[in-house]
Amino acid sequence: MSFPITRLRRLRQSEALRSMVRETRLTPEALVYPLFVCPGEGVRRAIASMPGVFNFSIDQLIEEAREVHSLGIPAIILFGLPDRKDEQASGAWAEDGIVQRATRAVKRAIPDLLVIGDVCLCEYMSHGHCGIVKKSGSAGDRTRVTASPAAAAPSRALDAEAYEIDNDPTLEILARTAVAQARAGIDIIAPSDMMDGRVAAIRAALDGAGYQNTPILSYAAKFASGFYGPFREAADSAPQFGDRRSYQMDGANLREAMREIETDLAEGADMIMVKPAMPYLDVISAARERFDVPLAAYQVSGEYAMIQAAAQNGWIDGERVMLESLISIRRAGAGTILTYFAKDAAKILA
Ligand code: PBG
Repeated sequence: MSFPITRLRRLRQSEALRSMVRETRLTPEALVYPLFVCPGEGVRRAIASMPGVFNFSIDQLIEEAREVHSLGIPAIILFGLPDRKDEQASGAWAEDGIVQRATRAVKRAIPDLLVIGDVCLCEYMSHGHCGIVKKSGSAGDRTRVTASPAAAAPSRALDAEAYEIDNDPTLEILARTAVAQARAGIDIIAPSDMMDGRVAAIRAALDGAGYQNTPILSYAAKFASGFYGPFREAADSAPQFGDRRSYQMDGANLREAMREIETDLAEGADMIMVKPAMPYLDVISAARERFDVPLAAYQVSGEYAMIQAAAQNGWIDGERVMLESLISIRRAGAGTILTYFAKDAAKILA
């Protein structure tokens, strides 16, 4: 050849060489496994849209958590399905709420496994929204609500124009939930509701109750996403009317995501999260560049479901795509990944 060739392929000749120069690694310590806990005993209910994911009663949850721990995964995050829902989300903050009971049981059985508490109200509210619902302020809206046949049971039947999510009163319920979780022994509080001011409210409440040492992992940049579909089946938390666009972020906004993160850090968040992960790798990357705090990303239910569905059809190599998706989230800059693949990945990595 009469021209020079830059031989980048030299370092790709064998797995030994490729492994030696690999820039990003995936280890079980980077993973968090989400678990859904429900009332009852001996319950292990499959979620149709999330193959391999179940609703567990507490006794079954313990067995699952033991396996997670034995695989070298340091933490689980708990989502609760209460036995009843109401307009105050009382199942979220009750002393004997499902997450509180599950936390006590897991910490007793496996003290070294970190338990993260997702703090949100949608699973516990009869209307499925992440905050308190109130009728909209304007007279026109009020008339429309009153005219509705279901006006007496406002939450189920309000039309999209006629309600709003009441930010400030919601903060008090979120704070109460966080304190109840801390009292049950939760290791990390993870607010995912996207109300303004929730990190400050939760920090103040935790400190006031003597939990100065309980860290907050804030779902700081959480986007209103179609990728949460399967989760809403697993957690029975789909909004009964309207959607979450008035509190979760617009998927088009990167600069606003930075502002959300900045605000949560100023309010006292110890760690931050971007969610979903794969469609928002640029947000993860920008957050990594800009903020010197531990950064997590949530590979959400829809991301998991897509890979599982394609793999089940034989259209992709599921294991390969799983590992590729996880390494890409790490490469973008996430130190920690919350993923339904945590166990499967840890089995391969161990
Ligand atoms: C609670 C919450 C949701 C998820 C995590 N916490 C659902 C939502 O915001 O609708 C989604 C997780 C997933 O899709 O895997 N608000």
